[in-house]
Amino acid sequence: MTDRITLRRPDDWHLHLRDGAMLAAVAPHSAGFGRAIIMPNLIPPVVTGTQAAAYRDRIMEALPHGAALQPQMTLYLTDATKAADIVAAFRGGVIRAVKLYPAGATTNSASGVTDFDRVQPVLEAMAEAGVTLCVHGEVTDPAVDIFDREAVFIDRVLDPLRRRTPELRVVMEHITTSEGVAYVRAGGDNLAATITTHHLVINRNAILAGGIRPHYYCLPVAKRESHRLALREAATGGEARFFLGTDSAPHTDAAKLQPCGCAGCFTAPNTLSILTHVFEDEGALDRLEGFTSINGAAFYRLPPNEDRIALVKRDTPAEYPTQIAAGGETVTVFDPGFPIYWHLED
Ligand code: NCD
Ligand code: ZN
Repeated sequence: MTDRITLRRPDDWHLHLRDGAMLAAVAPHSAGFGRAIIMPNLIPPVVTGTQAAAYRDRIMEALPHGAALQPQMTLYLTDATKAADIVAAFRGGVIRAVKLYPAGATTNSASGVTDFDRVQPVLEAMAEAGVTLCVHGEVTDPAVDIFDREAVFIDRVLDPLRRRTPELRVVMEHITTSEGVAYVRAGGDNLAATITTHHLVINRNAILAGGIRPHYYCLPVAKRESHRLALREAATGGEARFFLGTDSAPHTDAAKLQPCGCAGCFTAPNTLSILTHVFEDEGALDRLEGFTSINGAAFYRLPPNEDRIALVKRDTPAEYPTQIAAGGETVTVFDPGFPIYWHLED
C-alpha cells in the first residue's frame, strides 16, 4: 500500500483570494501552492495593470513569511478593455492571463462582457501576444436552464469565438459537464480546462437532496452524477489538457446562508488531501502530480516547480477546521462528506 507520496509543488490555476480582512484570513491557506492564477472579480474588478500590481502587493503582504505562493495576476475583461493595456501588462510581467466573465454569470461579474463583437479586437491582440484567456463558460440567458448553461455556452459563445480566433489560448475554467470534457479533448493545443476539487466530489444531490445545503452551491453549479464521473475520468486519466484550478471561493457564512446566498465553495485548506483521496480511489495516484503540478504549468508555458511536497496516509483522518474566522465573521470550509486520511506533511 502506498502511504506516502511526493509531488512537485502544486499550482492552483484558478483561485479567489478576495481583499481586505477576507484576503488576510484565506491567503495563508493557499500559501503552500507554487503559482496561483488570482481571479480579478473584486469590487470594483481588477481592470488595469496598475490595479493588478497593487492587488499583488496586498496579497504578498497577506501571505505568511516564507510562503511559496507566487500570485499570477489576471485582468477582468470588460466591454471597454483596451488591447494595448492588456498586452503592455502581459509583456511587463504584471499579468499572466485575462479573465472573461459573461456579464452577470457569477459572483461580482456585473462588469463582464456583454458584447462579444466589441471585445473581438482585444481577443485578436491577445492571440497575437500569446496571452491566455480564462473563460467562465456559462451563458446568462435567463431562458437557458442553469444546468445547461455550460453546454449552451460552448455552442453559442465559445466555439464561435475560437473559430474566429483560432490562435487564442483558452482555458475553460472549472468545467462541470461531460460536454465540457469532450469539447476540450477535441479542441487542439490552444485549449485546456481547469477542474475544481469539489466538482470531483459532489454532484447536485449534495446541494439539493434531503435539505438545501448552501455550502455546496457554487457556479458553475454541480451537475448530475454522470458529469461528475466524466470529470473524474478527465482529471485522473493523465491527459495534459486538464489541470487543477480549485476555484476556492470564500464567502462569509452570513453571505452564504441567505434567502439568496452567494455562490462559492471554500476548498483551499483541504484541497490537496481531498484530491489525493480522489486519485487513490481511482487507482491513479501516479497521475496526481500531472494534474496538480505539471499540466497547468506546461499550458502556461512555465517550468514545473522544482521543490516538492509530501502527503502521508495515516490511520486517523486529517483534521480541518469546519470554519475559519475572517474579520469577525466565519467562512465554512468545504466538507467532502467522507474522512480523508491523507495528511499534508510539514
Ligand atoms: C466565484 C466567486 O465567488 O467569486 N464563485 C463560484 O461559485 N465559483 C466566482 C466564479 O468563479 O464563478
Ligand atoms: Zn472562480
